[in-house]
Amino acid sequence: MNVHGTHYRTIWLKNDDDAVVQIIDQRPLPHKFVVEDLTTVSDVARAIKDMHIRGAGLVGATAGYGMYLAALHAPKNAPEAFTAQLIAAGETLKATRPTAVNLEWAVQRQLDAIAAAGDDISAKIAAAKTTAQTIADEDAEFCRRIGEHGVTLIEEISRRKNGAPVNILTHCNAGWLAFVDYGTATAPIYAAHDRGIPVHVWVDETRPRNQGARITAWELNQHGVPHTVIVDNVGGHLMQHGMVDMVIVGTDRTLYTGDVANKIGTYLKALAAHDNGVPFYVALPSSSFDWMKRDGVKEIPIEQRDATEVKTINGQYGDDVVSVLLTPEDSPAANFAFDVTPARLVTALITERGICDASEDGVLGLYPEKRK
Ligand code: MRU
Repeated sequence: MNVHGTHYRTIWLKNDDDAVVQIIDQRPLPHKFVVEDLTTVSDVARAIKDMHIRGAGLVGATAGYGMYLAALHAPKNAPEAFTAQLIAAGETLKATRPTAVNLEWAVQRQLDAIAAAGDDISAKIAAAKTTAQTIADEDAEFCRRIGEHGVTLIEEISRRKNGAPVNILTHCNAGWLAFVDYGTATAPIYAAHDRGIPVHVWVDETRPRNQGARITAWELNQHGVPHTVIVDNVGGHLMQHGMVDMVIVGTDRTLYTGDVANKIGTYLKALAAHDNGVPFYVALPSSSFDWMKRDGVKEIPIEQRDATEVKTINGQYGDDVVSVLLTPEDSPAANFAFDVTPARLVTALITERGICDASEDGVLGLYPEKRK
């Protein structure tokens, strides 16, 4: 997508040095646009854990590039030592954030590709580089296709409303900054806007890190999509008053049975949508499916982050981005980063292969090769 008229992806290899991975550091957004260099697995692990980058697809793509950097720096004289170092790098990366399944998926995909490249170390490094780029390219292409499928839902509502703006509520940031390009929840919105269908987006601020207020709002602004930022508790009120036509959110892990893990607060929006007859869609690439687990509430690991994120808030003060304390200094805070929305509250899933019911039959109908 474009930033001040220039096309960017969220991650790429540096033009004149392919031993350097470059990312957009999302922490100072929307106030500052900063590109950061990553050269080691530790750099990559820190960037994921401390959320220089974030969002399921981008976490996966970054892990893919992290494995490529690990391959570049692993011992070159013995295949066993090389492989042991790559496995250790994979464990380091997987330990950074537990909820987004894309992370373990990307690490495993790299380990398989590197193993399949034979014993020659330069062939292994080449395979790691190609795989990192393929993961990133696929992520962008799958998000583009999610847009193509999802826009049909917006078109239908627009027709019903005789062309009046379609009001879409979204939570957190499942936009292009959460993936390599286009985003998932935002892809149908960008596609509709680009086709001239009037849309308006209600953007949940998404405490504690405000991915909605800071990042989704910035993205939509850059692309000229009409939107309004709201605090997290407004959605139910808007739905009761007919001011939301549909909800589209992303996901960090969706089980093949249809249960959806997404940013904390998603479940409450799904309950409100259900109570008010508002369709609730979840958009995802297949890399965000968990094909093993069946029960989201019981089985999906929910990341708990540092209390500081709840107790403080970041914002612009003069030329600087500063953090201020919100709570009594000594009050403890809990920071559950994700919740699970049961399949019964999800109207449908929007994937790169099409739209399906949030159920085992629906998902396996689109991905028959995953039938056990
Ligand atoms: O903690 P984050 O910002 O990495 O959260 C992940 C997300 O971006 C959201 O949960 C998003 O809605 C789905 S993943 C694109």
